[in-house]
Amino acid sequence: MAGAHPDPLALPLPYSVYCRAGVRQCIGEIAQRAAPSHRVAVISDSAVARLHGEAIAAQFPADRTRLFTVPPGEQEKTRNRWAELTDALLEWGAGRDTTVVAVGGGVIGDLAGFVAATFMRGLPLVQVPTTLLAMVDASVGGKTAVDTPVGKNLVGAFHNPSAVVIDPELLDTLPHDVLRSGFAEMIKHGVIADAPYFDAVLHFAGAVRDHGASAPNFAATITTLITGSVRIKADVVAADSREGGLRQILNFGHTIAHAVERVLNFELLHGDAVAMGMVAEARIAESIGLAREGLSMAIADAVERAGLPSRLPAGIRLDDLIAATHGDKKARGGAARYSLPRGIGAMEAAEGKWAVAVTDEVVKSALHASGPDAPSAI
Ligand code: GLY
Repeated sequence: MAGAHPDPLALPLPYSVYCRAGVRQCIGEIAQRAAPSHRVAVISDSAVARLHGEAIAAQFPADRTRLFTVPPGEQEKTRNRWAELTDALLEWGAGRDTTVVAVGGGVIGDLAGFVAATFMRGLPLVQVPTTLLAMVDASVGGKTAVDTPVGKNLVGAFHNPSAVVIDPELLDTLPHDVLRSGFAEMIKHGVIADAPYFDAVLHFAGAVRDHGASAPNFAATITTLITGSVRIKADVVAADSREGGLRQILNFGHTIAHAVERVLNFELLHGDAVAMGMVAEARIAESIGLAREGLSMAIADAVERAGLPSRLPAGIRLDDLIAATHGDKKARGGAARYSLPRGIGAMEAAEGKWAVAVTDEVVKSALHASGPDAPSAI
């Protein structure tokens, strides 16, 4: 494909998103077109750098390109790593004529994105997501951040990329549990915006659980579904890029998910936490009368078909979870707020507000019903 000019998706975004098998071979060309620059700082983690980062860096002029790596893992998405990367770029001589190319999953996209957002008040950024989660969620929408001990993504900036390059072939090297985890965000996109898309995702869930063994056209179908998710996310962020209202629907499942991740010291995959968070938050929606009984089981069904967890882990203390929800970005006056579904494809928007305050008692009862003994949906 090198040399051929791939077409971006037609999306309502101020930057181009490419999604096509093999498009990784055109990253140099796409980056130079979207963000012409003198230097190129490719930022990746050490594992992804070996698999993809070095080959991508090789698409740029060797004397003006450097590959910067951090160790893999959510625990690396810190202010310290941001400072180290920033210092390394300064020592190298990077200036405003430098483009940052982020090659990795959500951690790298957020961390390298925050470096780009803040370095000399902003460098152009090209996102090259290598995980399913980053392809369908983190790479699109311009959020960049690092975590703090109080919670995830609490220090960050909005900084749109100049281009996003999604090559579903990069998923071939992704561990199965990480691929499956990213699928939780695709289920979320169906719940928050698009019932037919939810059905398509549900139909494909078994193939994700089996890692494609039961789906001969896995690659083509996942590419179509990734495109569907990107369209849903693009429509949301185009309408509300700064999360003043509507964009909060992308947080469905995440208030509980972030609390679970924090209580478990980030020792589970983000999408796994989102899967159980969506089921618990759908239970909250049912218990306050926003959603009809059965919604949480429909979501649990999709989650379980994909082999994702629908229940909270054994031994987790509900009071710790409740306390952790109070550090969520949507919290106001110390009270947690939730973006909740009315049904598949429809979110609550009472009085133009896309997140509602819920009492700790209601949340605790939903968490209790989502414990390790909750009934299976399938
Ligand atoms: N991942 C949620 C958002 O981009 O708003």
